[in-house]
Amino acid sequence: DRRVKIAPSILSADFADFGREIEAIEAQGADWVHVDVMDGHFVPNLTFGPQMCRAIRPHVRTVMDVHLMIAPVDPYIDAFAEAGADVISAHLEAGPHIHRTLQAIRGAGCKAGLAINPGTGLDGVEYLLDMIDLVCVMTVNPGFGGQKFIESQVAKVKALRAMIGDRPIHIEIDGGMTPETAPLMAAAGADVFVAGSAVFRGGSVAKPEVYGENIRAI
Ligand code: DX5
Ligand code: ZN
Repeated sequence: DRRVKIAPSILSADFADFGREIEAIEAQGADWVHVDVMDGHFVPNLTFGPQMCRAIRPHVRTVMDVHLMIAPVDPYIDAFAEAGADVISAHLEAGPHIHRTLQAIRGAGCKAGLAINPGTGLDGVEYLLDMIDLVCVMTVNPGFGGQKFIESQVAKVKALRAMIGDRPIHIEIDGGMTPETAPLMAAAGADVFVAGSAVFRGGSVAKPEVYGENIRAI
């Protein structure tokens, strides 16, 4: 299914009202809900853990797309799976045994995503294509929303699309997605677009129609 999907990131949502924010973006057309887990070690920011994912799960009717920006990953996979994650993405850069991590994610019953930072090439992806359902290509340095899109990643996505061929693997773009930058990545072959600031800006649970306008604009 190569139809473009929009996955709003709740990193840019009201942290005091995740349940209603998720219901609002889904009512306004979100395809997936992107959940940015950060540990203040792998990235210089700290968000929330498995307990928060468990709390928001009942409000997610689409897909809970959990992006683990944590290291180590393996000790927490079962907790995020039990919390209700549909997709769990781990960073290639988070440790020496990514193959084992991806095996553990699928073993826990979740779709497995491989997240790669802007400085990481595709050589780390090539021998994992049979282990993944998604590649999350970071187009900002992970840790924060509202950053500028890193243009060099367009060429990476084109090469990744060629490498994936007709395998059922999503290419998810994460960071700096706006109505101006998303088309570049769609043309390069991506099919899932994470957007935090571009979706939540100007809206609120009291003005959810703004979320819908923002989602449709991407
Ligand atoms: C950054 C996160 C991204 C971020 C995207 O570390 O992984 O998902 O929330 O935010 P925007 O769309 O504002 O760049
Ligand atoms: Zn993310």
